[in-house]
Amino acid sequence: MLAMNKYKILGLTLITIIASAIITSCSDKRSTGWEYAPNMYEHIAYDPDQPNKNFANGQTAQVPPKGTIPVGFVKFDYPNTRDGYDKAGLEVKNPLTTADTAGAAVLFSHFCSPCHGVTGQGDGTVVAHGFPAPPSYSKGQSSRGGAMKDLTDGKIYHTITYGLNAMGSYASQLAPDERWKVVMYVHHLQTL
Ligand code: HEC
Repeated sequence: MLAMNKYKILGLTLITIIASAIITSCSDKRSTGWEYAPNMYEHIAYDPDQPNKNFANGQTAQVPPKGTIPVGFVKFDYPNTRDGYDKAGLEVKNPLTTADTAGAAVLFSHFCSPCHGVTGQGDGTVVAHGFPAPPSYSKGQSSRGGAMKDLTDGKIYHTITYGLNAMGSYASQLAPDERWKVVMYVHHLQTL
């Protein structure tokens, strides 16, 4: 009985040594090891940076034809200049007709209230820690002239899209329709 146990222990030790030798023997650090589903690594589609005989210039990535825009892209032809701001202020109108106040409040509280404050008075958390206070939407003056409560659709949309001085652009965080929801909410805060 005891003899059998001895062999069992010896056998197990041997297996452990061999197994750890196999596991640690992968000395090639650059190897990716076994590939599961290799056609995911070496796929048949061209990579964008791969040479490609099918096109005259021999590249896979092609410049889009002139005048085309990506699907779902919304044009905003007002540059980040004083002129662009004034023009947008006169010409651009909110395309949303129904107010989604609840959704807009959430967007505003996530992206704007840290500086502008929950009620738009320019008293957000970040301001309490020394960030320059934005003017109140209802009582303040815009640094570009005029009362904040008179800011139009286009001026607010332009500001969200490009930012203004200490305020950054929110174009990469808010899709155009979300920006319009926030514009509606700012209009509500302008009346407080
Ligand atoms: C990092 C802090 C910060 C955040 C976040 C922020 N703002 Fe501002 N915002 C400011 C400051 C500061 C100003 C005043 C800039 C100036 O006049 O120099 C300002 C100005 C404005 C103005 C006035 C523009 C004008 O023409 O005078 C509007 C409108 C505005 N913000 C809307 C928003 C909206 C909407 C959001 C959320 C999408 C937002 N802001 C997020 C700091 C912020």
